[in-house]
Order: sequence, then C-alpha cells, then structure tokens
Amino acid sequence: MSRPYVIDELISAKSIAARIEALAREIKTKFRGTDKLVVVGLLRGSFVFIADLVRELDLPVEVDFLEASSYGNSTESSREVRILKDLRGEIGGRDVLVVEDIVDTGHTLKHVISLLNSREPARLACCALLDKPSRREVDVKADWIGFEIPDEFVVGYGIDFAQRNRNLPFIGTVRFTDTQDET
Ligand code: PRP
Repeated sequence: MSRPYVIDELISAKSIAARIEALAREIKTKFRGTDKLVVVGLLRGSFVFIADLVRELDLPVEVDFLEASSYGNSTESSREVRILKDLRGEIGGRDVLVVEDIVDTGHTLKHVISLLNSREPARLACCALLDKPSRREVDVKADWIGFEIPDEFVVGYGIDFAQRNRNLPFIGTVRFTDTQDET
C-alpha cells in the first residue's frame, strides 16, 4: 500500500529553464565546431531534461538513448549496473554528451561513462541536472551540474516516485503526511 505524501517545490520551472540556458552556453563553447554531437539521454529520468537541453544547443546534434538499471546487492558499494537498452548509433570517433537527470551514488554514471569510453569516442562529457554529492559511493563527477541538492527524495521534471510525478514541470521533494512532525 502506498503512503500518502505531498510534494514541496524545491526548484521552480523558471529556475530550471534559466539554468539550462547557462549550461547550454557552456556546452556550446566546448563543442563549437563539432561535426555532429551525439547527445545521449539516460532513460528514463532524463527525458524531460534532454528535450529542453537540446533545444538550447544550436549545434548539429544527434539524439540517442541508453537505459541502465542498477541493482543493489549485499554491499551497497558494489552495485551491479545493467544495460537494458543500448544506443542505436555508433559513437567511435564522435563527440558525445551524456545527459543524466540525477547523480546519486554515482554507480550508474560511472558505469555508463566507462562503457561509452570503451567505444573510443573523440570526446565524451557529461551533464547532470541534479547532483547529490553527499550520497556518492564511487568517484565520479559530471562535467556540468545544474543544481547541487541535499539528500532529499526528489521528484518531477522526469524523476519519479514509484513511476509517478515524472510529468511535474518543477523539481519537488516528497513529504510523507502519515508521520507527525514533532515541532
Ligand atoms: C535513477 C536516475 C539515475 C540513477 C542515479 O535512475 O535516473 O539514472 O538512478 O542513481 P545512482 O547515481 O545511485 O546510480 P533509475 O534507476 O531510478 O531509473 P529511471 O531513470 O528509469 O527512473
């Protein structure tokens, strides 16, 4: 049975849009002159972010998607990341930008970067909308980060809670309403 909850706004749609404009300016500077940048969205959480980001990148781009899933096992720090859906295109010799919604423990991004680097792209960089550095279990860092956030349960703008709330236009935090706040 699901617990009742409300969502408190953490980052507004307007702030997200402004931050994406700034990120896109930096990304364009790095990849200016590229033949065709392959922008790789990590499913499912990045689908909203990648849609807004690529529309701010007036560079020649190709959009592709990768779906990874991470499974915890006995020790948190040795999670297994599996690829559920691979890229459609080849990235050898190409410029690649990986787009992630959130870096939490870092296992997903680390695995994906290592996998894509093994295909020998010309350049590979990563942009994550949200970063929770306090949760990191492995050493990985995105080249661009939209917002650093505390260790709170976030939803919206592509990110789900039990497959719900991905369609919220803002980022919010989940607050359960079946517990009493002792204030
Ligand atoms: C979430 C998120 C990142 C990953 C980050 O994906 O979208 O890809 O977890 O976690 P990590 O840094 O601890 O590896 P999730 O597996 O929930 O799938 P989804 O994108 O389909 O929601």
